[in-house]
Amino acid sequence: MNQRSDAVVLFGATGDLARKKLYPALYQLAARGALDVPVIGVARSEWDDDRLRGYAEQAIRAKGQVDEGALTSLLNGLTYVSGDYGDQNTHQRLVDRLDGARAPLIYLAIPPSVFPAVVAGLREAGLSGGGRVLVEKPFGRDLASAQELNALLSTAFPQENIFRIDHYLGKESVEGLLAFRFANTLLEPLWSRQYVRSVQVTFAEGFGTEGRAGFFDHVGTVRDVLQNHLLQTVALLAMEPPISEDADAYRDEEVKILRQCAPLDPATTVLGQYVGYLDEPGVGEMSRTETFVATRLSIDSWRWAGVPFYLRAGKYLPGSATEAVVELKRPPRLLFAGADAAVPSANRIHLRLGHDDGVTLAVQAKAPGARTVTKEVALRVDFGSALGHRREAYERLLEDAMYGLRHRFAREDTINEEWRIVDGILDPEARPIPYYKKTWGPSEADRLAGLTGWHAVSVKE
Ligand code: NDP
Ligand code: BG6
Repeated sequence: MNQRSDAVVLFGATGDLARKKLYPALYQLAARGALDVPVIGVARSEWDDDRLRGYAEQAIRAKGQVDEGALTSLLNGLTYVSGDYGDQNTHQRLVDRLDGARAPLIYLAIPPSVFPAVVAGLREAGLSGGGRVLVEKPFGRDLASAQELNALLSTAFPQENIFRIDHYLGKESVEGLLAFRFANTLLEPLWSRQYVRSVQVTFAEGFGTEGRAGFFDHVGTVRDVLQNHLLQTVALLAMEPPISEDADAYRDEEVKILRQCAPLDPATTVLGQYVGYLDEPGVGEMSRTETFVATRLSIDSWRWAGVPFYLRAGKYLPGSATEAVVELKRPPRLLFAGADAAVPSANRIHLRLGHDDGVTLAVQAKAPGARTVTKEVALRVDFGSALGHRREAYERLLEDAMYGLRHRFAREDTINEEWRIVDGILDPEARPIPYYKKTWGPSEADRLAGLTGWHAVSVKE
């Protein structure tokens, strides 16, 4: 059994990620009695404990009803250390505040530019030995910088104590892909080039940069979500069953399938930028940052050779959705209906991974009337209604990391493979094609997905 972390340290405690995701996740842990260790926020702003507590409280209350007892206990255990990360006194004050805790979980919710200073400070202060470090995505900017970042973290932390976050791995809905595939004999025999015609994965947001344009403009959609969230989703859709429960057995299969993905090709990739993006505060004049990407991925594996995986992601699309659509091959013809009847359309399996997560099977049923022709009907299940409450990704990931459980975190080789796949489309000279807000990106992206085009997905406006 791994040792449980004896404190949580949040670098970037005054930031956006801490507000939106980390305080609410810590509260959820506290509310079910799973957080009884001190939480120490660190950042440069000259705040004190009370100001940080107010910030965290507001963030938690914004998510809905709270249990006052749990909230009070979390806030009482929350304190703040302010200082420059390059100043060793900051790290020393953190050691003092830890008051003997020697196995803290250290979350780096800070811009990557300050990682070197923080890692050096932690090492110097002796906090790296027993500590675990959580690093946010995107992990690096390309393959070379990801390798540098790994090397930097390895100067202070052993690999087993480095937890690389891709919060999609912590989502019950995304993890459910594996369960759905391998727990249903109904599906697994169909899950290959024998019966699957294409796979499409859509990650759509109905909104823009939401005040994070300054950050986003240095990143773009490929680095922000394609390299990590979408490729992880592809890995779960396409990988072979892990040979055991072991975290490395699981991640070995993830890496194996990613290794079989061909590098993305600019010739089958469309980059877009929504009209109005250049006027947003924080966006560089003449910025070429893409807010949309659509691309075709090939997996040269025994199971998937020849089956196109179409991926698209973007901001200011007609609504929000994260959905994978597996399109099966069509039956050869319709029985009994005569030569003039159309071939029934293909069955599709829609796997909703975002809002209203669940599955819809688009199948054919006999249409009413004298002739044996068919009509598409949907068999739909919403997992929220069927299964009840599921925990949020950050809550699950924080808890796992506190116990040193690694299988929901990306391994170094996984990240390197992801960068190898996307590196070829990260051309700073590429000019994204403009598209209007609330459309599905540039029309060039429609043509990419072949004759059937992109299947409709369930968007939330
Ligand atoms: P913010 O821009 O909000 O910054 C986070 C914190 O870092 C702030 O509290 C700020 O505190 C400190 N900071 C900012 N700039 C500097 C600097 N130049 N030097 C030292 N400290 C600085 O970032 P986010 O919270 O949005 O993101 C943090 C990390 O999480 C990033 O790596 C990002 O990629 C990742 N991430 C964020 C997501 C989000 O939704 N926000 C989603 C997924 C990943 P202070 O000024 O007080 O020091
Ligand atoms: C983050 C990206 O990793 O994921 C954001 O940085 C994006 O740009 C977010 O909005 C989407 O996460 P979710 O859980 O809302 O699908």
